[in-house]
Amino acid sequence: MDQVTAHQAEEDARNDGVLVWVDGALKPRAEASVSVFDSGFMLGDGVWEGLRLYDGRWAFLDRHIARLFEAAKAIDLQIGRTPDQVIAALEEVRQANGMVTDAHARLMVTRGVKARPFQHPSLSRSGPTMVIIVEHSKPVLPRPIRLATVPHIRGLPMSQDPKLNSHSKLNCVLACIAAEKAGADEALMLDVHGFVNTTNSCNFFIVRGGEVWTSTGDYCMAGITRAVVIELCREAGIPVFEKNFSLVEAYSADEAFLTGTFGAQTPVAEIDGRPIGTEWPGPVTRQIRDLYMARVAA
Ligand SMILES: Cc1ncc(COP(=O)(O)O)c(C=O)c1O
Repeated sequence: MDQVTAHQAEEDARNDGVLVWVDGALKPRAEASVSVFDSGFMLGDGVWEGLRLYDGRWAFLDRHIARLFEAAKAIDLQIGRTPDQVIAALEEVRQANGMVTDAHARLMVTRGVKARPFQHPSLSRSGPTMVIIVEHSKPVLPRPIRLATVPHIRGLPMSQDPKLNSHSKLNCVLACIAAEKAGADEALMLDVHGFVNTTNSCNFFIVRGGEVWTSTGDYCMAGITRAVVIELCREAGIPVFEKNFSLVEAYSADEAFLTGTFGAQTPVAEIDGRPIGTEWPGPVTRQIRDLYMARVAA
């Protein structure tokens, strides 16, 4: 297959008729919309979370809600709802769609509808806008992911901190486009010093000699799956390091995988044309994946 993404899912016809939560109303997908004056549409001025439903429960819900409120505070956006009210909205849209497991939610909050089509946040007078899109979603990967490094880097925190799950993802989108043009699926992004950092949509790990390495975390999203993987490795006695490493070490890794709420652990087979591993997932990735699924089910 030519086109593979880290968010590949089985086709599911039920998604054509899914109900979307838009500012408190449940709208059929085709009618779910926001204003052309919305800050999210005009400027990418908002924050979001991706959550996953396993056996009737949103995995790591508390961490997602905490990260959402943290991001909103960082960009001075008033969500206007309590964490419990946000959770109630998630539950409402889940139940309205009869979802029990294998579902994914994208919960978005923007600064709201602007009075005039300009940047100043004070023009966002009717904010916020909150939308929750849910999908029936079973990740399925026809082949492991191929990564390419790109010129787009993970920047310093004083210019759009890469830790923020902001609506504007242009840097990541451009990175992904560059990777696709290089014949890969997704982009492997370096940090400002040239160390391997993360991909455009997931966090990145390698396995070398039984050790699990990931970046220091300084220039990437504080991924919840990333954090859980590190915790699980520590509990299971798998040596895990958050450290700087370069492409030399990534190219010669025994295994590489991505982490994210959607795909949990997604195997990588190639970086810049260099083959990685001989089975996908590799043995350590498989062990981590089993621990992760057990944690989700606990
Ligand atoms: C750039 C980026 N990296 C990593 C992740 C993975 O984070 P999490 O494990 O919390 O889903 C995301 C998900 O939103 C992301 O957008």
